[in-house]
Amino acid sequence: MRLGVHLKDSGMSFIRNAWYVATWAHELKEKPLSQTILSENIVLWRGQDGRVRAAEDVCPHRFLPLSKGRVAGNDLQCGYHGLIFNGAGECVGAPTQETLPDCKIRQYPVYENMEMVWIWMGDPAQANPDDIYDLPEYHQDGWGVAFGDALDVEANYLLLCDNLCDPTHVNYVHPSTLGNPDEINAPVTHEDTSWGVLTERLTPDSAPTGFVASFGSHDGRVDMWQRYLMYTPSVSIIDFGATAAGTGSWQEGGDGRIQVYSCHFMTPITETRTIDRWLHVRNFESEDPSVGEQISDQFRIAFAEDKEILQAVQEEETRHEGRFKIGLDLDESAGLFRLKINRILRGETLAQAAE
Ligand code: FES
Ligand SMILES: [Fe+2]
Repeated sequence: MRLGVHLKDSGMSFIRNAWYVATWAHELKEKPLSQTILSENIVLWRGQDGRVRAAEDVCPHRFLPLSKGRVAGNDLQCGYHGLIFNGAGECVGAPTQETLPDCKIRQYPVYENMEMVWIWMGDPAQANPDDIYDLPEYHQDGWGVAFGDALDVEANYLLLCDNLCDPTHVNYVHPSTLGNPDEINAPVTHEDTSWGVLTERLTPDSAPTGFVASFGSHDGRVDMWQRYLMYTPSVSIIDFGATAAGTGSWQEGGDGRIQVYSCHFMTPITETRTIDRWLHVRNFESEDPSVGEQISDQFRIAFAEDKEILQAVQEEETRHEGRFKIGLDLDESAGLFRLKINRILRGETLAQAAE
């Protein structure tokens, strides 16, 4: 029997040297956009050249948030007395006087991928766009992409991560959509990986879940898989699908194979608030956007169910700060993931102290 793992509260839990999703790319139009990320206020804007830039959202003169100003060419102009800052955070214009003030604002590396703007919150010298998460199927023919919402959850991002590496909650929290009574005793396995934690549950020869029944062409028993890929610090990909029983595997093949990647990109806003931007990628009816919308509608119901649970958990966690939580066997993946987060946090703290 496996031992349960106590999910210790992490205290300050933000990893800085990482790429986070700052916003959907389409949200950046002609106006600057203000976002709070890791408790920092940030202004994002798209210059005339189409490139996105980000900086701290405060003018060094009278501290008006720069997001209240306007985009000027590729730069950003304060809405109070017109100071102009470029994408490197340098002051390049001061219309009310002849000389430029000696000031600079903090700039953040940003990059676009999968219709999202990614921001690097740590040491800019360590930012490498190659480290940004990418799902190959997102770009491939034969796969349909559907964008969901930006789900605003009043809970620490690690509570969302716990939930997204835990297949056992599905039958209790989502009985009508994703749950399946045949799965209650199906074994869950997990693996420690270089990028995070992989949790798997294979359910061979079982009745289709509500989801598989509505989107697949199965009238008999199916082999199903759920693979929860939880990447540090906060990207979750749930690979799930089904084939007619005994005809394929989660890796390939199978009659009537349907497969979905349900993707969550979680951005910590504060210690008790997270925005979960989600989308999904499917291998069936890939050209029909209405199918994507139908799936999103089912997910919306499920994610609202998760949100309700996680907000209630956060509320009690705050009320019972420091109180011991019991561990169960099912906590292994989440416990391992938190251990990895704590290890990275410790590394960042030590590196900072060494500086
Ligand atoms: S507050 Fe920004 S220029 Fe004065
Ligand atoms: Fe859930």
